[in-house]
Amino acid sequence: MFRDVSSCNTYSYGDAYYWDARYIQEGGSFDWYQRYAALRPFVRKYISPSSRVLMVGCGNAVMSEDMVKDGYEDITNIDISLVAIDMMRRKYEYIPQLKYMVMDVRDMSFFPDESFDAVVDKGTLDSLMCGTDAPISAARMLAEVCRLLKPGGTYMLITYGDPTVRMPHLSRPVYNWKITLYNIPRPGFQQPESCSSSRKSYLDPIPLTEKGTLAADFVLEDPDSHFIYVCRKIDDAEIVDTSMYQLTADLL
Ligand SMILES: C[S@@+](CC[C@H](N)C(=O)[O-])C[C@H]1O[C@@H](n2cnc3c(N)ncnc32)[C@H](O)[C@@H]1O
Repeated sequence: MFRDVSSCNTYSYGDAYYWDARYIQEGGSFDWYQRYAALRPFVRKYISPSSRVLMVGCGNAVMSEDMVKDGYEDITNIDISLVAIDMMRRKYEYIPQLKYMVMDVRDMSFFPDESFDAVVDKGTLDSLMCGTDAPISAARMLAEVCRLLKPGGTYMLITYGDPTVRMPHLSRPVYNWKITLYNIPRPGFQQPESCSSSRKSYLDPIPLTEKGTLAADFVLEDPDSHFIYVCRKIDDAEIVDTSMYQLTADLL
């Protein structure tokens, strides 16, 4: 399995003690990679406000608060850091739409199967990929995410990891996810004037090859951009419906 150590500043990102110490030291709030405003078009497109949402590795990000302000009604936030969860629980005790729990994404057995319509992950799989036993941790986490999603539900992963390092983990047949990929520049990125882009909009999905890689001629405008993997858990009923349609079509 691929491990993207080149992008990890520290192996400690997979370690609860590291995160506790960091949250004690830094306090306040911080959103990794992107704020909700930039992600909103994707979130609104794939996750309806009435969804039951699980935010994995919420840290002290404002993302969930912004989603509630935008109409989301039920967001359960989990993190391995007790410090982060204590802070967030106190900060948001007046917002009933937000719940906070200490939990390891590799073992979310507290929740029954198919508990959520959507799971949002901004930087948490990335953290695990920097820790020890990265491939095993990633597999445990993704198996749990898949178990918790309702059929037709969505796992939205916001990451710096390009398809070479993320698709081998996400495309395992056992998950049965239909994956759509987007790429957005980091906040504040200015395109050099000399560059003219052939892409219409960041809202257009990026085609993947059959091997799950970027096309050879695909150019990243911002080398430090972020990828959004929208992984939709295929509903078994859809498969049955499609094969029934095929059967009917064959008979006609
Ligand atoms: C890069 S930060 C992202 C925080 C937040 N999602 C954001 O966008 O700002 C990764 C978060 O994952 C949490 N984390 C790391 N390993 C975890 C695990 N095994 N289970 C749950 N949370 C974990 C860390 O405590 C940290 O808050």
